[in-house]
Amino acid sequence: INYEIQEKPNGLAQAFIIAEKFLNGEACALILGDNIFYGDGLSKQLLKAGSNNGATLFAYGVRDPERYGVISFDKNNKVLDIEEKPTYPKSIYAVTGIYFYDQNVVEKAKTLKLSKRGEYEITDLNMIYLRENNLNIVRLSRGSAWLDTGTFESLNEASNFVRTIENRQNSNRSPNDFWTI
Ligand code: G1P
Repeated sequence: INYEIQEKPNGLAQAFIIAEKFLNGEACALILGDNIFYGDGLSKQLLKAGSNNGATLFAYGVRDPERYGVISFDKNNKVLDIEEKPTYPKSIYAVTGIYFYDQNVVEKAKTLKLSKRGEYEITDLNMIYLRENNLNIVRLSRGSAWLDTGTFESLNEASNFVRTIENRQNSNRSPNDFWTI
């Protein structure tokens, strides 16, 4: 694993500037370290996103959208807007922490200005793609789980979720451990 360090918390979009050499002009994906994704068929959806044009975001309906980037849609499900942590969210759809971008992402990230909270916002980057009509949104179904572990409570919830699934499925045992009939 090769890695670079972001010395100061200047925002997610700075990742593309720090990683410019490593990306070498290619398309890429970004995943946040405090996000957990779980669900059948997820790998297929991710593989597909990797070959889309422009940018691809994954949206998930949550109870507390104001904690996240929030996507609003019109009647025909066309994306209208993405707002970062809005006080009054216009939908339940949060932008999850996995993002796919085309080869132009570094150049676009370089045009961003610091936001009010002093960060290069991933939402501002996504808005550039939206304005260019080059933003795809995949809605994750309720059958998949998106968990974030950014607060003590959500970390505990995520930990219990993984524990429940692992205990029930007994994932440490191989099929060869069982009697055959
Ligand atoms: C960041 C993004 C936000 C996104 C969230 C997903 O939030 O800014 O748009 O919904 O990750 O976890 P932050 O980690 O900065 O609170």
